Amino acid sequence: MSKPWVTSRSAYVSEMFAAIADRYDVMNFVMTMGQDQRWRRDAVEVANVGPGDRVVDVATGTGDLAFELASRVAPKGHVIGVDFSEPMLHLARQKSAGRHLPVSFLVGNAQELEFSDNSFAAATCGFGLRNLDDRLRGIREMARVVAPGRRVVILELTPPANLLARHYMDHVIPRLGQVLARARDAYTYLPESVSEFPDAPTLGAMMQSAGLRGVTYRYLNFGTVALHWGTKPE
Ligand SMILES: C[S@@+](CC[C@H](N)C(=O)[O-])C[C@H]1O[C@@H](n2cnc3c(N)ncnc32)[C@H](O)[C@@H]1O
Repeated sequence: MSKPWVTSRSAYVSEMFAAIADRYDVMNFVMTMGQDQRWRRDAVEVANVGPGDRVVDVATGTGDLAFELASRVAPKGHVIGVDFSEPMLHLARQKSAGRHLPVSFLVGNAQELEFSDNSFAAATCGFGLRNLDDRLRGIREMARVVAPGRRVVILELTPPANLLARHYMDHVIPRLGQVLARARDAYTYLPESVSEFPDAPTLGAMMQSAGLRGVTYRYLNFGTVALHWGTKPE
């Protein structure tokens, strides 16, 4: 089977998320049996941020991780969610309307963040890194924009060792995608992109090579999700 994302993952991914934006949240809820918000809360926990902090959430999509962060830094802090998909950001802005949280959403590329060095108390990325053409560059960008002593947090699917989890990802998710989101291709891309994504130790090593220190990770959901964090040296 040909893999159209091999030549340009960004072009493929951008078109894909534009097509599925309005079904993205529901699919997350169904695929993860409602667990995804808990994993985002775990990511916020390790981001180590508090009231008054300024945080960037990269590849923010429909904003769920940004909202969790914003509730943590409110009322005087601020969260900026960055994504290159306008349709995903449109939903994020709609969702933010009634929430009264200190969050804003900007169009931008994770591989070329338009922020100064050392300007955030944390940089997070939830289920976004896998979709970048140059993942090391994406991690370096997050490391560049966080202040010394502060954290980069990556929440991402990870290749599962467990056979049942692999079966669920490879066969059940594409079927759910077809039935619920009418987007079998997008939800076939998902397990394929996970299977070729670095395993948790390798991603940890990439974060080290991007200059982060004290890199730590934890598996969630029977080893299908990994939560990594590392600190920018003082
Ligand atoms: C699976 S969604 C994750 C959304 C959200 N972070 C969450 O936790 O649900 C991946 C997002 O990454 C965005 N994305 C992929 N590559 C990107 C890039 N190079 N720059 C900015 N956003 C990107 C997509 O547009 C999409 O909204």
